[in-house]
Amino acid sequence: MCGIVCYVGKKKAQPILIEGLKRLEYRGYDSAGLAVQNGDHVDYFRAVGRIVELEKKIHDHDITGSSGIAHTRWATHGEPTEENAHPHTDQEKNVFVIHNGIIENYQILKSKLQKNGVRFSSDTDTEVLAHLISKYFDGDLCEAVRKTMSKVEGTFGIAVIHRNKPGQIVVARRGSPLIIGVGKDGNFAASDISAMVRYTNKVVHLNDNELATITEDGFTISTAQAIAVQRDAETVEWAPEDAELNGFPHFMLKEIFEQPETLRNAMRGRLEQGEGVPRLGGIMPVWDTLKECRHIVIVACGTSYFAGCVGRYIFEKLTEIDIEVELASEFRYRKLNFPHNTYIIAMSQSGETADTLAAIREARRKGAKLLGIVNVVGSSISRETDAGVYNHAGPEIGVASTKIFISQLTILTLLALLLGRHQNLSLTEGVEAIRALEVLPEQVQTILSEANHIQAIAEKYYHYNNWLFLGRKYCYPIAMEGALKLKEISYIHAEGYAAGEMKHGPIALINPDMPTVAIAPKDSMYDKMINNIQEIKSRKGLVIAIGTEGDEQLKEMVDDFIGIPPTLDILNPILAVVPCQLIAYYCARFLNRDIDKPRNLAKSVTVE
Ligand code: M6R
Repeated sequence: MCGIVCYVGKKKAQPILIEGLKRLEYRGYDSAGLAVQNGDHVDYFRAVGRIVELEKKIHDHDITGSSGIAHTRWATHGEPTEENAHPHTDQEKNVFVIHNGIIENYQILKSKLQKNGVRFSSDTDTEVLAHLISKYFDGDLCEAVRKTMSKVEGTFGIAVIHRNKPGQIVVARRGSPLIIGVGKDGNFAASDISAMVRYTNKVVHLNDNELATITEDGFTISTAQAIAVQRDAETVEWAPEDAELNGFPHFMLKEIFEQPETLRNAMRGRLEQGEGVPRLGGIMPVWDTLKECRHIVIVACGTSYFAGCVGRYIFEKLTEIDIEVELASEFRYRKLNFPHNTYIIAMSQSGETADTLAAIREARRKGAKLLGIVNVVGSSISRETDAGVYNHAGPEIGVASTKIFISQLTILTLLALLLGRHQNLSLTEGVEAIRALEVLPEQVQTILSEANHIQAIAEKYYHYNNWLFLGRKYCYPIAMEGALKLKEISYIHAEGYAAGEMKHGPIALINPDMPTVAIAPKDSMYDKMINNIQEIKSRKGLVIAIGTEGDEQLKEMVDDFIGIPPTLDILNPILAVVPCQLIAYYCARFLNRDIDKPRNLAKSVTVE
């Protein structure tokens, strides 16, 4: 939700912190701030708006310190004002705190502090942390943070400096991501590797209820109970250019165009044509129980949830497994009653989505076994599941999720194939699926080469205020995902519907002012989709069809046509979603929206 970056070392901290904030801006972007320490002097600035506003504010100041903390905010408690921006400080301005998460008992703590004469200067939950740390500080900053942790309920990733502790940053986490970066000329902490990937790819993950003291020379980790923890740094594969635009105007477009490579990365080393059985090393530790499993529940949010919805159809086609898909935010409140040997698959780009994490914790309590399909290596979900598969898609920075969706679909297909081949799926079917998977990257490339055509369609329709997306079976979730993409970045109202539901209500909306995107590849539902399209056309509705290339019948019927290469029914969603992503992107661009940072959203939703 918010982004944290910290540095302590030999270099000037301010440019490193600002650069880190810019890379984290996708996590939250309504205000920002930093505190940089030089001896017992602390330069402290906050600004409303994007990082560029903070830059303007510090422009005329010579901030020389080589240790500091910085934050970009996505407001939860208190409006996005300068007073509510982080860092927060105590009355004497000795303690400076930045925080990602929510302190749930902050009202009680605040009242107690106020009764003891403490004056608050913001509406945030975070400010209580600054006052508590100040109260408990007796020369040992780590101890003061530890005592504060014992008083607060909720989630946090925090970083703290103290005027009397130059060259020292204390960080702590419970529920919100925080990693330490081990550099050559100093050390880092951040909510996400992208903030420090230019300086180091050696990271140490902090677990829940752990603290670390970071200095120029190293770091020490301990638990909330003051037990020392030894942990070595891991090397991450992300390269600095993964977090650059590389000539694209937006990360979203860059990530859409990266998709052929995303598919290759998801399949690399995992395809085995001979036996038609994919290899997924990450699930081998649980293979003995997984292969016997007959009930799976996929839990996820947003785009990851829609990928799960496609996964349900794929599993039904390829396996004998009974499969359900649940919104993690609802699943966590259900009365759970699993059959024996149920596996829960948590699917998440960030691996930090609070609802998905809460869902797997609840499922664990009820005895389920847990798998993760996660992009961010070492993230909370990857660590809290028994086994899993990484997307290996590199950082996804655009708030609108694109490349991860097709990566998730690919991995679900591989998993279903693997399980199916140990059940009733024949060698021929297995090999056929693998052959079709292998050519997907080129097929996506073919669709991308039609981007200008899709842009022209977007130009024709972007001024319409209400859109409908329709699909059936495998492509029904693509209708929902297409609608989500459009509304999320263009702010156009869009609904994704199962085409069969049309006559149960939505058909009342059809008129010449309502474009419908009909996803109608030549699959087992094609004839039914054609009927639905006819129903729309006979009511003078506008139809943009996404169909199999060369489908002249469909082309004739509709106002605009986007072709996708032919593939298996189960893989059509991977191709069909790409035009939907591009339609959303270009509409948003014509409307001059802030595409990578749409209003009110954040990339990683680490609060409920
Ligand atoms: O990191 P996750 O995959 O768990 O995130 C889930 C959703 O928050 C995410 O997909 C969200 O819906 C995107 N903004 C959609 O583009």
